[in-house]
Amino acid sequence: MIIGILNGPNLNLLGTREPQIYGFDTLEDINTQLERVAAELGVELQTAQSNVEGTLIDILHAWRGVVQGVVVNAGAYTHTSLALRDAFTATSMPFVEIHLSNVYAREKERHHSMLASVAIGSVSGLGADGYEFALRGLVATLRRCT
Ligand code: DQA
Repeated sequence: MIIGILNGPNLNLLGTREPQIYGFDTLEDINTQLERVAAELGVELQTAQSNVEGTLIDILHAWRGVVQGVVVNAGAYTHTSLALRDAFTATSMPFVEIHLSNVYAREKERHHSMLASVAIGSVSGLGADGYEFALRGLVATLRRCT
């Protein structure tokens, strides 16, 4: 099984970006930890990050038939991008949404997710560990359902 790990805008700056909100782990640290978990679970990972909405959509299209599910932190596009949600539904790609911060405890404009209604589930507010929980939950769900 191959799982995609997709990160959206500004997540390339993790480690230095508002660490009081997002923590000190870099995206590389997070992906390294996910590789360890993937080895334990017996799955492979493909990782990608882009600051560009259309590029995130192109990546999802390219992953069709390659990855069996996606862990996604779409950053601020979570709250705005109908196009990204359409890409998930158009590719029939199962996914788990993850946010480092608790978006529901932040500004009102972060309370709504364009993705949540078509996601398997969501993790929010558990910091970098949330990626691991999202990966474990996605793989367990895919193994149960396929
Ligand atoms: C985020 C939360 C979003 O509201 C924000 O725009 C981000 C990061 C998080 O991981 O907590 O870029 O997705």
